[in-house]
Formats: sequence, structure tokens, C-alpha cells
Amino acid sequence: MSHPDEAAWSKWFNALGRRVIATRNHGHDYEETGDRDHAQILRLANLKSAPRRVLEIGCGDGRVLSWFASAGADTVGNDVCAQALAEWKKSVQAAGRRGRHDVVHGGATELASLAPASFDLIYSIFVLQHVSRRDEIATYISEATRLLAPGGVAVLQFRRSGLKTLAHQTVTDCLRLPTKMPSFDRHWRGHRFSRTALQRIVPEDPAPPSYEIVTVGMHHWLVIPGRVTGFGH
Ligand SMILES: C[S@@+](CC[C@H](N)C(=O)[O-])C[C@H]1O[C@@H](n2cnc3c(N)ncnc32)[C@H](O)[C@@H]1O
Repeated sequence: MSHPDEAAWSKWFNALGRRVIATRNHGHDYEETGDRDHAQILRLANLKSAPRRVLEIGCGDGRVLSWFASAGADTVGNDVCAQALAEWKKSVQAAGRRGRHDVVHGGATELASLAPASFDLIYSIFVLQHVSRRDEIATYISEATRLLAPGGVAVLQFRRSGLKTLAHQTVTDCLRLPTKMPSFDRHWRGHRFSRTALQRIVPEDPAPPSYEIVTVGMHHWLVIPGRVTGFGH
């Protein structure tokens, strides 16, 4: 059965293509924003060496994942939108990246098909704010905990609540109006989390071994370490 949000995301992807992926970066160069976000994820993860196995939750057409693939990592891209995944597969093949590049079509429950402790880096960017069901977000967190290899790290981005975010959202909504972006849609506007709300959503079973919430601009990042630290040992 397809994910309940798949039809909406497919409609937007068909109508807007890449712009549905990188709307927050309105007016900026797509490649440049992918490079910048890739660098930010690496800074937050603070791994001791370059990740060899990378999973992106909600990878879209690979705006960010392509940077990990070009650095030689094996990748798995997960997304509810089949068209976005098809674009990602096409571009990674066309670029002739070495390594293995798989996709998981669907939401959090579909990650059950992946082997435990099999990723050095798991990340999500501009996605969890659009996920309408809290239990799905909790499943993504527990799956990240299960899938992290010893010494690996998960960095999951959430949109912060508060006045600054609200003001920013209002301005971007106004900018998007002429482009007929689905800016006032419930899923599109998405969820905002205070630090306490985020702490409440972190599941107890399986509980991450520990975690940190790092706040950067409009976002909180949930940073979850793998079970044993000391990458490569
Ligand atoms: C704004 S785009 C961001 C894509 C990519 N992370 C990036 O930064 O370029 C949001 C993506 O999340 C996907 N998505 C929405 N709900 C999802 C869910 N429950 N599970 C996985 N992906 C989801 C959409 O299909 C879309 O590709």
C-alpha cells in the first residue's frame, strides 16, 4: 500500500520538479545549496572519517545525497515519492558514481527492510517538518537508532518553533505565492518543535543510547550517536 502522503508529494514533484525540493533555497543555485547542506551535515555529525555507508530519509531527487555519492560513499535514499527517487537513480547512474546506490520507496515502516547497524551516517533535511504523523517521526528515530553502525551518527533536522521561525515562514510564504507553491497546505507548512516537544517525541523503545539537540538558525538537529564510539575501531 502506498504512503498516505505519496499522492500529494508526487503531484508537487510533477508540477514543480526541483523547486519542490529546494524551496527554502528559493533563488539560490541548486548545486550550491546541496554542497552547503552536505557540509553542514558533516560538521554536525563530526565523524572521525568520511562515511562509507549513508542513508538519507526523504532524499528527494538527491540534491544532498549526490555529494555523498561523489565522495565515494555507498548510499540508500528513502522517499515516499517514486518520481523523485527515479530522478535520483537516473542522475547517480548518469554520473557513473562508483559504489552501490539503493533506494527504499515509502515511509518509516519501509526502513524495516534494511539490515541493523549498517550505516555510518543517517541524516534527514527539510523532511520531518512535513511528516504529519508523530508516530512516523518516532519510528524514523527508532529506525535510525537500529540502523546506525557502531561509531556512526544520525543527524535529523526539525523546524524550530518560535517567533523567528514564524516570521521567516510568513516571508517565504509571501515569496512563494506568485509561483503557486503549495505554501498554505498543512503538510507543506509542517510541524515546528520546541526542544521539549522534540525530547518528548524521542521513543523509549528502542531508545537512542544518548542524543543531543543542536540548534542552528531556524532548526533543531537531533544528533544520535551509534552504540559504540570510536569510528573504525
Ligand atoms: C522539501 S523536500 C527535501 C528533499 C531533500 N531532503 C533535500 O533537501 O533536497 C521533502 C522530501 O520529503 C519527502 N517526504 C515527505 N514525507 C515523507 C515521509 N513521510 N517519508 C519519507 N519522505 C518523505 C518528499 O517526497 C520530498 O522528496
